Amino acid sequence: MGGKFISFEGPEGGGKSTHAAALAETLRAEGKTVLVTREPGGTRLAELIRGLVREELDDPPVTRAEVLLFLAARAQVVANVIKPALARGEWVLCDRFSDSTFAYQGYGRGIDVQLLKELNDFATEGLVPDLTILLDVPPEVSRERIAERQRATSTSADRIEAAGEAFHKRLREGFLALAKAEPERFAVIDSSGDPAEVDRMIREAVRGS
Ligand SMILES: Nc1ncnc2c1ncn2[C@@H]1O[C@H](COP(=O)(O)OP(=O)(O)OP(=O)(O)O)[C@@H](O)[C@H]1O
Ligand SMILES: [Mg+2]
Repeated sequence: MGGKFISFEGPEGGGKSTHAAALAETLRAEGKTVLVTREPGGTRLAELIRGLVREELDDPPVTRAEVLLFLAARAQVVANVIKPALARGEWVLCDRFSDSTFAYQGYGRGIDVQLLKELNDFATEGLVPDLTILLDVPPEVSRERIAERQRATSTSADRIEAAGEAFHKRLREGFLALAKAEPERFAVIDSSGDPAEVDRMIREAVRGS
């Protein structure tokens, strides 16, 4: 049986990177070949684009440029990494994917979500995850975890992390609206609790998918 394509989505600090790594470990222990990739990233070009969108610029990307940069990175990783891995029968776990575009640039920045879906389809050649794990946390938890990580790694907020309260609220609501519109693809998991319990719920969602 072939592998599945699973994306992890949700607000910053929701635990996407942590829990994607944990699921990869679980699947590998079952003998599966698993590829974990983060967005934007996963190929040299996409990592360069990641650097560009996080750069402190005098002229930061306007929203339309931001959309196209993220989509360019996604097109590259889909064509050169994700599709070939799925064709080999491997599992692919993606730390953010299309729903982040719909949530951030759509619900967050006000670009028409339907238009974003069409542009995104062009970039992904219509590739949609088999399962999307939405790790949901309230803004307070998100803020606290980001602050904690910044203290731990002595870094400061990047441009997107630094966006205001109202933006983060729209973002979370956007993710929840996306999940509500496609309940068969999404598993919404409360990620504010015990990490071991979150991992357990994720494994259960993967088994049921
Ligand atoms: N269920 C959990 N309970 C408590 N802490 C958690 C949980 N999941 C993750 N964390 C902690 O929260 C912080 C953020 O987690 P992580 O970096 O995985 O989030 P993320 O969703 O990948 O964030 P970003 O979008 O910024 O990449 C880390 O310090 C991590 O150890
Ligand atoms: Mg992360």
